[in-house]
Amino acid sequence: MLAGEYGHAAQKAMEILLALGKIYDADRMIEIKSAQISGVSYRNIGEEGLEFLLELAEDGRVRVPTTLNPCGMDLERWREMGIPEDFAENQLRVIDAYRRLGIQVTLTCTPYLAGNEPGFGDHIAWSESSAIIYANSALGARTNREGGPSALAAAIAGRTPLYGLHLEEQRLPTVEVHAPQIRDEFEAAALGYLVGKIIGEGVPMFRGVGVPSRDQLKALGAGLACSGGIALFHIEGATPEALRNPEMRAVERIEIDEKDVLEEVDVLNDVVDPDLIFIGCPHASIEEMTSLYLLLDGRKVRRKVWILSSRSVKAQAERLGLDRRLRELGVEIFCDTCPVVAPIRRIGIRSIATNSSKAAYYLKNLEGIKVGLKPLRELVEDALR
Ligand code: F3S
Repeated sequence: MLAGEYGHAAQKAMEILLALGKIYDADRMIEIKSAQISGVSYRNIGEEGLEFLLELAEDGRVRVPTTLNPCGMDLERWREMGIPEDFAENQLRVIDAYRRLGIQVTLTCTPYLAGNEPGFGDHIAWSESSAIIYANSALGARTNREGGPSALAAAIAGRTPLYGLHLEEQRLPTVEVHAPQIRDEFEAAALGYLVGKIIGEGVPMFRGVGVPSRDQLKALGAGLACSGGIALFHIEGATPEALRNPEMRAVERIEIDEKDVLEEVDVLNDVVDPDLIFIGCPHASIEEMTSLYLLLDGRKVRRKVWILSSRSVKAQAERLGLDRRLRELGVEIFCDTCPVVAPIRRIGIRSIATNSSKAAYYLKNLEGIKVGLKPLRELVEDALR
């Protein structure tokens, strides 16, 4: 590949991987089972990123099943979202380039809920911090924290350099975190956000949090990965590596109590009257959609309320009639995108309430949007006001 025998894209991909491997002192490449690519919104990659993709798409094809992160709009309902025509046109050019590379246009940050679910011990090359940490921690797969270009290079070459979290010894806990029981996704998101902020990097081993649900694991991971550079956590008696190796210990130890978590949430909270209330960062599961529906209890919302999800979970909601029932109550399910990667200010939204610490952090700090960070039941109360 490096010599160009497999074409220009494979050569370019191998050059990127070799450079990475040298930086991290990897002694060889390993084959990967799948890739997840971020850097899809035209808002983030712009014309320069698109040119890079078009160059690769000339003769490049991915060698492993590869899925795609959300883009800047719902591909079918972008007009209803209020997305401007010029943005939509450019976004479609980006999607087309990815499609030509043989990538599945899944457009979700929860590929593991949409058919790309790696097994325990599988080597993969994923970008999208919340998906990476979920794959490593909840599934026991092995990926480093790839960026969009390195994940794409790995997908085209079918390989990645062997270093970091692909190695057993790098996956051991570095700090024990004693924390209160996690009761819902909001608490998981807030705890993850706080712990990420405190430890910054490393591999936390949680004790005392109970056995969180799949949605709580995804919220905890998204929080940890957004405020810190964390790509793997363990939970005593719950996550696969902690279950297989109950003797795992770390020397360092921190204690978190409920008050610490709530104080941290207050720092992110600054809106009382949101233009938009949304759930689905990371993209919502069918269980999260159902919880929202049950809490609404037949009452119509009086504000803009969105659920962001993948097309495959939305299809499940349609089969169950849940999509129609939510729409009757005024709740819209959008796919392929999220408020963090969509051109949210261009569509006139200035304040948002959500139960996701990751969304709250990015919307507040990168977009200057006023945010409210609340549990789902409080979001529902706001939606009905
Ligand atoms: Fe997914 Fe957007 Fe959140 S990509 S993790 S919904 S910021």
